Amino acid sequence: MTAVSTHPQPMEVVTTVAAVRERIRRWHGEGRRIAFVPTMGNLHAGHMSLIQAAARHGDRFVASIFVNPMQFGPNEDFAHYPRTVREDERMLAAAGCNLMFMPDVAEIYPQGLEGSVHIAVPELSTILCGRFRPGHFEGVATVVAKLFNIVEPHMAVFGEKDYQQLTVIRRMVADLCMPVEIIAAPTVRESDGLAMSSRNQYLTADERRIAPAIYQELGRAAARLTAGDSHFAEIEGAAVRALESIGFRPEYVAVRTRTLELPGPDSRELVVLAAARLGRARLIDNVQVSR
Ligand code: PAJ
Repeated sequence: MTAVSTHPQPMEVVTTVAAVRERIRRWHGEGRRIAFVPTMGNLHAGHMSLIQAAARHGDRFVASIFVNPMQFGPNEDFAHYPRTVREDERMLAAAGCNLMFMPDVAEIYPQGLEGSVHIAVPELSTILCGRFRPGHFEGVATVVAKLFNIVEPHMAVFGEKDYQQLTVIRRMVADLCMPVEIIAAPTVRESDGLAMSSRNQYLTADERRIAPAIYQELGRAAARLTAGDSHFAEIEGAAVRALESIGFRPEYVAVRTRTLELPGPDSRELVVLAAARLGRARLIDNVQVSR
């Protein structure tokens, strides 16, 4: 009887486009199904749930770690964004990841940021978070398009935590006929309901105690919608006022259809989204509603 090794192959870590392509070409030649999870690193259980989903869907999986300067505004946290590459590498290897792609900025933007081709996603990138983060979703769409062209995955997993991002990516893939299946993974939360995020580290202990209120207010809004209430503006206003009263600086609370259009009284599949500043942190969250 031939012994079959059950030991998974060690994860490879590469930093260049050429090195990724070399592995991908081999896997495509072997008929492998490639699943991809793009991240900015500082991995937590939310990211790991995407990795697990990728491992379920593909038979080779690739994760990228790249803090993408194009999606940060001039006054945002690009320079301070938490970077924990060694720990990320350990977590990905333990999860059975086959290839970790960790490029530097020049590898992804050889012409510089300004000189790079940009992907614009009309409408969707200027509403909700896009109003407060001009250029953000173009930056996300551009880097994800580049990463898709480098990794050539059959599928890619994105978190529902960043619901507008997921919607922008779905739209880009559909409009540009990209042959990548987009898989959505549910939001992973702390035990008190706060959506996991690398940016939760910016909260002080006091702020961390009130942070779960954003999810509670979304839950309250969702309950009203489920009960048949279609006074959307009133529901949004009540949540904004509740968050303000406990120290948040809300940017918006919005009831939308699942594709982020304005809903009508008969809309059944909804999502309630919120973005609010709390101290140094900008928190986002959302809850889907079927009624
Ligand atoms: P990042 O914030 O690192 O998130 C990487 C992926 O993890 C995204 O798809 C995000 O939605 C998902 N994620 C983060 N927190 C989650 C949680 N609590 N539950 C479930 N999924 C969660 O999003 C980005 O990076 C970047 O914009 C990127 C897509 C990599 C492009 O630069």
